[in-house]
Amino acid sequence: MKHVLSIDQFEASDLLDLFALTEEIRNDPGRFRSRLQGQVVATLFYEPSTRTRLSFEAAIQRLGGSIISTENAKELSSAIKGETLRDTIRVVQGYADAIVLRHYEDDAADEAVEVAKVPVINAGSGAKEHPTQALLDLYTIYTAKGRLDDLKYVVAGDLLYGRTVHSLVKKLAPFRGVTIYGLSRPEFALPQEYVTLLEEQGVRYIACQSFSDVPENVDVIYHTRTQLERMPKQQSEVKELIINQETLDRFSPKTILLHPLPRNREIAQEIDQDPRAYYFRQSENGMYVRMALLISLLAEKKS
Ligand code: NCD
Repeated sequence: MKHVLSIDQFEASDLLDLFALTEEIRNDPGRFRSRLQGQVVATLFYEPSTRTRLSFEAAIQRLGGSIISTENAKELSSAIKGETLRDTIRVVQGYADAIVLRHYEDDAADEAVEVAKVPVINAGSGAKEHPTQALLDLYTIYTAKGRLDDLKYVVAGDLLYGRTVHSLVKKLAPFRGVTIYGLSRPEFALPQEYVTLLEEQGVRYIACQSFSDVPENVDVIYHTRTQLERMPKQQSEVKELIINQETLDRFSPKTILLHPLPRNREIAQEIDQDPRAYYFRQSENGMYVRMALLISLLAEKKS
């Protein structure tokens, strides 16, 4: 595999290989300390980021590689002078062995690879894809539950604009016995193209509008923030679905609560200490999954 553009590229067996490598790294990080020695990775971010950029940069440095970075490429790179993404990629690839790209356009990563001669990793493209987030979400679920088959999910919040949900649900679908409750305000429902894709692969998809519509024995709740930056003003006034201690207590002690973060009001801070609150563990997992991904990509590049 050269570029990472979409979660679609990963077969179930690729996921399991990646998760096995992630576990190895986690258990003995010292063994991987020099795996990227001599390699320079560029992180080119046209949209805000905390977790994705910093976990990629920490991953690169923990593997012995170096980074060159622009954290606000929209304003601080030559984009502000009118340079196209293609031209920026043509230039940056001359300095780096791989490019981690986040962009506000849905098709930015696809455009970048048309000119890139080094691997491009999509770190979030518009409302469409966030494949490395889906990898760490799946890893978190897999390690917590020991499987990806036969699970019941709630995906909640902004299912219309949330790219993390879009990448995640696509990759839940190939597994057996999956039920997904899509919980959102009607304005933020999951687009029909995803519902069709899920149903075609045998997923039971049930749209609902309140946490009380969901059975208490769901395995995973995946909540998300309203993506204010991607919507017209009037839509941004729609109220979010808040999960607090009382809401969480309706669910089984085995239910786990994930969120890609950042959160706004949709998860009350009072539940952060609840053993079912998995979101900070999930974000930490991101660094290890990205270390595993970088090793598989850049090792392949050398051969
Ligand atoms: C997500 C994103 O950027 O899409 N954040 C992240 O990468 N963890 C989710 C969000 O911004 O709401």
